[in-house]
Amino acid sequence: MKQEPTPRRRGRAHAEVCPGTDDGLVVRPVRRGDLDQVIAIDATVTGLEKRKYWASVYRRYGASDRSGQQFLVALAQGHVVGFVIGEVRDWEFGSPPCGWVFAIDVHPQARLGGIGTRLLEAISASFYRAGVRKLRTMLARDNGLILSFFRSQGMMAGPLISLEMDLEG
Ligand SMILES: CC(C)(COP(=O)(O)OP(=O)(O)OC[C@H]1O[C@@H](n2cnc3c(N)ncnc32)[C@H](O)[C@@H]1OP(=O)(O)O)[C@@H](O)C(=O)NCCC(=O)NCCS
Repeated sequence: MKQEPTPRRRGRAHAEVCPGTDDGLVVRPVRRGDLDQVIAIDATVTGLEKRKYWASVYRRYGASDRSGQQFLVALAQGHVVGFVIGEVRDWEFGSPPCGWVFAIDVHPQARLGGIGTRLLEAISASFYRAGVRKLRTMLARDNGLILSFFRSQGMMAGPLISLEMDLEG
């Protein structure tokens, strides 16, 4: 990350992360009432509407009281314009605890205005408060947009590589 967030004492793990600023953008934990707009943004980006999937993501990350699990939304004039989801994983892949970003999406009409940056800063700050000092993510090799974005935030190639194979019955 460009800048290490300043650690602060917090009460509830899911207290408001980033109050409104001059541009009116608010980043806060997702609420159930935001889900339709989150689903619509995802459907715009991926072309698939996955209601059941999002209900389960909300149960796991949105309704959690644990600071290691984060599902944040960015709102402009009260409308959801982006979201980020991630989790602190302890000692997986043999690595000390670190924060993983699983998904980040900004509505196509709201891009290039710094919203993605604000979302990543907010989830980084939450992870920092949860005690981790490393942020990781995975992305598709051919997704140049998301690679440019993460590189712009200071992320570099890490020490892990992904492997896969087809499973046959
Ligand atoms: C990647 C994404 C989150 C960026 O959101 P955003 O709000 O537009 O990002 P920001 O405005 O904060 O941009 C920050 C930096 O990212 C880079 N960036 C963003 N969009 C870019 C683009 N289209 N081309 C090249 N670089 C880009 C730039 O370096 C930019 O800084 P700059 O504006 O000073 O040049 C957004 O484009 C998106 O949702 N894309 C689809 C994501 C996706 O595929 N998700 C599924 C897998 S998780």
